[in-house]
Amino acid sequence: MHTWTPDSWRGRPAAQQPDWPDTHTLEQALKELSTLPPLVFAGEAASLRRSLAGVAHGEAFLLQAGDCAESFADFGADTIRDKLKVILQMAVVLTYAGGVPVVKVGRIAGQFAKPRSSPTEVVDGVELPAFRGHIVNDDAPTVEARTPDPGRLLRSYHQSASTLNLLRAFTKGGYADLSQVHVWNQEFVASSPGGRHYAAVADEIERALRFMRACGINLGDEKDLHQVDFWTSHEALILGYEEAMTRRDSLSGDWYDTSAHLLWVGERTRQLDGAHVEFLAGIANPLGAKIGPEATPEEVVALCGRLDPERVAGRLTLVSRMGAGLVGKTLPPLLSAVRGAGHPVVWACDPMHGNTYTGPGGRKTRQFEDVITEISGFFGACRAEGIWPGGVHIELTGDNVTECLGGSEAIGEDDLELRYTTTCDPRLNGRQSLDLAFRVADLLRA
Ligand code: PEP
Ligand code: CO
Repeated sequence: MHTWTPDSWRGRPAAQQPDWPDTHTLEQALKELSTLPPLVFAGEAASLRRSLAGVAHGEAFLLQAGDCAESFADFGADTIRDKLKVILQMAVVLTYAGGVPVVKVGRIAGQFAKPRSSPTEVVDGVELPAFRGHIVNDDAPTVEARTPDPGRLLRSYHQSASTLNLLRAFTKGGYADLSQVHVWNQEFVASSPGGRHYAAVADEIERALRFMRACGINLGDEKDLHQVDFWTSHEALILGYEEAMTRRDSLSGDWYDTSAHLLWVGERTRQLDGAHVEFLAGIANPLGAKIGPEATPEEVVALCGRLDPERVAGRLTLVSRMGAGLVGKTLPPLLSAVRGAGHPVVWACDPMHGNTYTGPGGRKTRQFEDVITEISGFFGACRAEGIWPGGVHIELTGDNVTECLGGSEAIGEDDLELRYTTTCDPRLNGRQSLDLAFRVADLLRA
């Protein structure tokens, strides 16, 4: 029988790995990484697994959200704060509508690496290595910028550490106070063109808070009302980095990838015999796997067998990313096959990656209504199978960008040029994200 080790993935084909120009500097960077303190503690990852078990049992809802790709250039307290703020606002709306706890997981503090459909791209007639995320190279269109640089592995670690530090301070230090988040939502509702429709939910939350105060509950004194658990996640793509961050937990003896609480495998790297699945199979963190429209029931069941052989609730989250037009057809056979195989997975919906297209100006974009249509199709498919629609996985930013079309402010194709700042996929802006939360709230209550 084959034994797993943090480096056993090296014996398998590893898709999407950079062509590092110099193995000596790469090895030095990985060696240094392996001596640096873990970013998360094993006990935290285990605690997230228990929260996700609640989602698997239909007793909680997962909100996983953040950047497509974090950026070295766009790194500062305000960006982190604004992203957290919008996720907290969404979570309050969803908690109220679903009547269950919302497990909050950021695509943040480590979401730097990007899989690409082609290893090169042609810019102004020149063929360049593709941009693979700031953990590998820079997005500027020159050969120098696109050359993979192992120093970026260390910089990603340090940026993740400071990001996580600020997230911990905000979420435990009072910034996540429920009454405050509710006030932000009221401000959003008051200023939103879609506001009248949303006012009903916001008013109900207001009444619920007033009711608690009237019962003598001091909202400021209740720890659970001003602190939240906020977890980190990213795609485990650059396996050398993930291996270097993997440590044995002295308490349980289990291996944890301490670069984040949850790691996922992408649609392009989930080959059953590939290096990514091999690596993830041996770490005890909760895992995610993206599932696209080409996946067959046999493949998905086999993936569950590799990643969740013990059938542990909370271990594995399957993230359906089918596209608005396909979800109703491609998801149901997978839902029933996985259930038939006895894997207590969380089913979540990524309504972003199956709905990306290139607009007239050459910019990648997504239609807000397609995003909603896919989530609605996901809810419909799950409910028809008697399966809990466990959550959503969203690419967003708190910034006022113009990258996705539509939403209650009706961003149009001409607006894409205004504030298109993503280094990879188009993200919902702060207001579109809240629009989405209120629309998902309707689905949860339906
Ligand atoms: C992503 O989540 O940014 C991504 C690349 O997704 P997928 O693997 O589903 O295409
Ligand atoms: Co993306």
